[in-house]
Parts: sequence; structure tokens; C-alpha cells
Amino acid sequence: MRKNIAHLFFYLTVSFCASAQEKYDEPYRPQFHFSPPAHWMNDPNGLVYYKGNYHLFYQYYPDSTVWGPMHWGHAISKDLLHWQHLPVALYPDSLGLIFSGSAVVDAQNSSGLQKGNEKPIVATFTYHDMAGEKSGRNDFQTQGMAYSTDGGMHWEKYSGNPVIKNPGLRDFRDPKVSWHAASKHWILTMAAGDEVRFYRSPDLKKWEYTGSFGKKEGSHGGVWECPDLFELSTAEGTHKWVLLVSIGNGAVNGGSGTQYFIGEFDGKNFHNDNPADTIYWLDHGTDNYAGVTWDNTGKRRLFIGWMSNWQYAQVVPTNPWRSAMTLPRELSLQKINDHYRLITKPAAETIGLRKGDGAILASDQLYPADLAELELVFDLSKTGKQDIAVELVNDTNETIRIGYNTEKKQFYIDRRNLQGTAFHKSFAALHTAARILDKPLVKCRIFIDRSSVELFADEGTVVMTDLFFPKKPFQKIRVDAGNTLQYAKQYALKKTW
Ligand code: FRU
Repeated sequence: MRKNIAHLFFYLTVSFCASAQEKYDEPYRPQFHFSPPAHWMNDPNGLVYYKGNYHLFYQYYPDSTVWGPMHWGHAISKDLLHWQHLPVALYPDSLGLIFSGSAVVDAQNSSGLQKGNEKPIVATFTYHDMAGEKSGRNDFQTQGMAYSTDGGMHWEKYSGNPVIKNPGLRDFRDPKVSWHAASKHWILTMAAGDEVRFYRSPDLKKWEYTGSFGKKEGSHGGVWECPDLFELSTAEGTHKWVLLVSIGNGAVNGGSGTQYFIGEFDGKNFHNDNPADTIYWLDHGTDNYAGVTWDNTGKRRLFIGWMSNWQYAQVVPTNPWRSAMTLPRELSLQKINDHYRLITKPAAETIGLRKGDGAILASDQLYPADLAELELVFDLSKTGKQDIAVELVNDTNETIRIGYNTEKKQFYIDRRNLQGTAFHKSFAALHTAARILDKPLVKCRIFIDRSSVELFADEGTVVMTDLFFPKKPFQKIRVDAGNTLQYAKQYALKKTW
């Protein structure tokens, strides 16, 4: 009986969501990015691929458009672009709210949780005990576990929770679990105040602390959150470990952002290849935070981030939902000027957004623009233009400029010339990013949705993600590049909702 009611509830929710999905047309509503039908969302959680489905769980408060008691919302996709909303996967319980975490496919059933034919999928997340926090304790964050025995659709909390107790640290959260083949252990990377901690386990239930990294490394403008640790290889076959660490404040262009370290991981601890004061940013825009990668996708390292910033996420002018995810991206590794760097490109699936073969654009002409991808090549050896840009314009004279300053050798997104930015003093700003490559040709891909732009510049070496909320939709696009423009193509993009 209970199961029947649960199923009925599930179908009602899914059909409600399906009708909400048909709309997805409110002002600023992302048309080809993931956003919840209604209410508050932050970090992506539990990213796992299993039998044809990419699962996306996310920090979700189903009762309001501002942050509140956290649940794990849930959606699945076959292509990372078209998403089907599913019922909330994890609800708060007596141990606390459900903060960020990860999920893995336990292919060998090391947890012993398998029931039928499906491999267990095991989620590890942070319990946040509000009452404990209010009473002034320091140990209110612990790590809990939940599992699915039906391919990720339904979830049970593990009876032995918490699986990692708190050693007395106020910020102790965001476990990211993966299989470490060399040591034949599960490894867990989590944020602990101003550093990350590593644990290992044979069965995803008993965890042993093995080391910590970062107290004196990288950027410490804010508390460390949502780390991720994975191995990548260059085209030449060199293996390196990449450690992503998000910081709540003090990122390169203000507010929240994600830095990365490159080095070695020996199964117990991470060793940075670079001097401690080297800071590499995954994205130089202000709207890509708490991003992590999918488990179980073979050689591809697929990433998605929360497309907002804690500075203003709760006051941006959207309704009835708040926040979207970035486009899915593929991460790779490349050696540039003797240093390994993370390369970020739109996931190959994004080609599927294009309608038709695209149209060639000339410089300094106005073209109609709505949802668009631009492919651009600028030739810097053609002199005469200091500031090269793509400009979005509307009939109230608001603009967004996405460009490159040849003198400063900086990419930028300028969102100062928008009218409705009073919701936060930091929003109207110019964001910049130093160029890394030193080639005469600059190649870019730019994705424009109703309220966001993503710039993948110089073959993925510099990335910028920014939100915008103009008073009126941008109807026109102009490439302001003079004779430096070698090639520009605009693809109209499909809605995925
Ligand atoms: C990052 C974060 C995480 C935490 C979650 C709470 O944005 O602060 O550290 O688990 O959000 O919603």
C-alpha cells in the first residue's frame, strides 16, 4: 500500500514537473541550461552516470526561492542537455539537513548493499545539524551515506550514519568519493575549514583519515568548499592529479569561485607540483561555483557548476526559481609553457544544441540574436584594434561586452552597462582574465542563453561564465572587431525545455 502511494506521488510529481517543463519561458529563464522548475537551487551533487542516465542531484530548498533547509533535488538526462525532473531524492532527517556530496557506482558491491541486478549506487553527503550549530557546538557537520539499489531512482539512508564523525571542526563538509585503482580503495576528499582532508575506505562505510592538504597553498579568500580530486592524462600520455577547490569568497573577480591544483596523489595525500602561492582558476567569470565532475564516465571527465555566486545568488531577479547550472563541460590537461593546465571545453553533446549550419557574421553589423553559439577567430597580427568584442544590445541601450583587450592581454566580460543591477552592489562589474597562450590567432566559442554567457577562449585555456539580467531581452548581436575578425559564425540554438 505504502509503496503504491509512493508510486502515485512519484507519477503526480513527474507529471506536474512535465507541465512546468512545457512553460520554462519566464523572463530570464535559461532555455538550454538546467534549472529547477521552482524554488532555490545551489551546488550540483551526486553526479553519477549509470546505464545511460546522467544523474544530477542538487542542493535544493523546495519551499522558497532563497536558501533554506537543504534537500537533494534530482534530475536525469541521456545527453546532458535535456533533463527530466524526478522527485526529491534525499530529505533532511534527525541527523540534519542534507548538504553537498557525491555518488559512486559500487561496481564490485564492496558495500554489500546490492539487492537485485543493479549495482549499488552509494551517495556520501554532509549532515548539517542546525540545532547543534545554534547551541554553539563545533561538531554539527558529519558525513552520512545513502544508497540506491534500483539504478539511482530511489534512495535509502544507511542505518549506520554518520559514517564520518566530526573531529571538532565547524566547517567539515562536501565529501567527494571516487575509486582509486592503484591502492584498491575508495578515496574521499572533503573540505575542512581552510584545507582539504583525505580518507580511504574498503567498503564506503568505514573511513580512515590519511592526510590533509592546502593550509598554506593557493587562495584563502574564503572558506574551502566542494573539492574534487581526479586523474587526467595529457595527449602525450603524462598522468597528473587535479584537485578542484571552491572558495566561498575572495575569488579572482570577487565573491565565490573555484581554484585548481595540479600534482600527484599517492592514495593518501596530494602533493602540489607548483609553488604554494600559485593560483589557478577554473573559471574567471563570477558565476561558476561548487562545480564537480561525474563518476563512472570512463575516460571523459565531465564537469558542471552552479551558475551563480554567493554574493548575490539569493537576490537575483528570477521567479519562481533561483539558479541554474553551467553548460556541461569536459576537462582535459595540457602542458603550456612548462606548466600543466586544466582545459575546459563545452561537452561534445552541446553541438546537438545547434539549429542548422549557422550563418557567417561580418564585423560591425547588427544581427538578430536570441539563443546563440558563436565561433570566432580573431587575428591579432592585423593591427589597429585595441579592444575586440562581441556585443549584445537591446533597444534600451543596455549592453554586455565579451571581449579581448590586446594591450592588457586580457579577456573580459563587461556587465556594467545594464540597468537593473541595483539588487547587489557587486553585480555591475568588469571581469577580466589574463591570456595564457601567445599565438596570433584567438579562437573562441561563446554560448548565450537568456541570462548567461559562457566564453571558452583560446581553445579552452581561459573560461568565463557570467550572468546578466537586462531590463529587456537582448535582440541584437554585433562583432566589434574591425579587420582582426578572421571568422565568425553564429548558430541559433534549440531550447531544451
Ligand atoms: C557551497 C556550500 C557547501 C555546502 C552547501 C550548502 O555552495 O556552501 O559547502 O555543503 O553549499 O547548501
